[in-house]
Amino acid sequence: MPSYIIEGGKRLEGEEYVSGSKNASLPILASTILNAGTTKLYNVPNIRDTKITQEILKFLGCKVKKTKDKIEIDSKNIIKKEIPEHLMHQMRSTVILAGAILGRFKEVTFSYPGGCDIGARPIDLHLKSFEKLGINILENAGFIICKCDKIIGANIDLDFPSVGATENIILASVYAEGVTNITNAAMEPEIADLATCLNKMGAKIEGAGTSNIKITGVKKLKDISYNIMPDRIEAGSLLCMTAITGGKIRLNNVIPDHISPVLNKLEECGCKIKKEKRTVLLEAPKRLKAVDIKTMPYPGFPTDMQSVFASMLTVSRGTSIVVENIFENRYKYMSELKKMGAKITIEGKTAVIKGVRKLAGTKVMSTDLRGGAALVTAGLVAKGKTEITNIEYILRGYEGLDKKLRNLGANIKIKEGE
Ligand code: UD1
Repeated sequence: MPSYIIEGGKRLEGEEYVSGSKNASLPILASTILNAGTTKLYNVPNIRDTKITQEILKFLGCKVKKTKDKIEIDSKNIIKKEIPEHLMHQMRSTVILAGAILGRFKEVTFSYPGGCDIGARPIDLHLKSFEKLGINILENAGFIICKCDKIIGANIDLDFPSVGATENIILASVYAEGVTNITNAAMEPEIADLATCLNKMGAKIEGAGTSNIKITGVKKLKDISYNIMPDRIEAGSLLCMTAITGGKIRLNNVIPDHISPVLNKLEECGCKIKKEKRTVLLEAPKRLKAVDIKTMPYPGFPTDMQSVFASMLTVSRGTSIVVENIFENRYKYMSELKKMGAKITIEGKTAVIKGVRKLAGTKVMSTDLRGGAALVTAGLVAKGKTEITNIEYILRGYEGLDKKLRNLGANIKIKEGE
């Protein structure tokens, strides 16, 4: 398994761009199942999670053609209505494919999804919502078998604004009979991007991006081309990675509104931020100030930014308090940061970070995607060499991270595993 080797202490400076959004690409790749024709997608990041999704699409019978800048998916001849167990286990968002297959064929078989170990991550809200849409669910030997004669629009009030459940309801309801109303829907920009893509295909979805979404069933979708939104978590990560080094960056292909809570907190840390239409400029002070962060569903501070931001705070001046409200097990990476000299105490949802002047490079292990990125962040300023093992987690979600960081002046390389 490959590792990252980082020689810390280089100030990052320069211009970079943000790739297409992982979390928008996954439901949008799933949405192509609903169109019994061809969909062309641009700006899909070349990362492991989008590759696994393409493998599943091929397994179902889709023809997937990849060129340098686009992926063309022909879903005319889908023959299978099940998601293979070994691929299902590789990432959580495979569950999104279930809603799309159900929406088109009124049946699907899948198993419990895998993904990063950052909490229990149940799918009860997905299954409860499917039942509300008139879908029968049978669980047998670890498999979930969903079937119905027709999907019937319903009013679904989510107990929690789950991103995945909101996407699954949308995908399953596009061809439903009548109207589906989701209340307490997740408001993440990736959901709005999925709805914009589906509406371009001919679906009728209103209110995506707010907590009330209305889906009026349609009979047919049409072939389209669609450009996926930029990745707001990659944007936030590159800004924090620059900020921890006291650096300066011009970051292109960002929608500043999508990362407002991160930009506000970076300003509170002492960074100068300038927003342009699709660009953010950041200039960091020599040493950042401590700030408190609390993760919340969108438009709050994103849980996916918690680890990278907290890592940045380990060397800031003062004490920071971090509260993780979305996932119950998202502090695993902190024990690795402690090996590098970070001073952190954790009690339940709360981590108290006492800023230190210096971290020291050592061998650490990625425990999940964003936790891995947090270690990269720390490695950029740590004294000496940091070796980060298990980087396949990081490769799941960041396109060419080492290359982008090298372009900004970091000393980072990949060491291939034995
Ligand atoms: C998505 C994102 C992930 C992000 C998360 C929260 C994708 C591919 N992934 O994940 O990067 O961290 O949103 O912003 O878009 N829950 C239940 N029952 C359910 C579903 C969820 O209890 O049926 C709980 C989860 O355990 C978690 C919380 O709800 O504690 C949020 O989960 P959810 O919003 O569904 O996240 P994902 O869609 O898995």
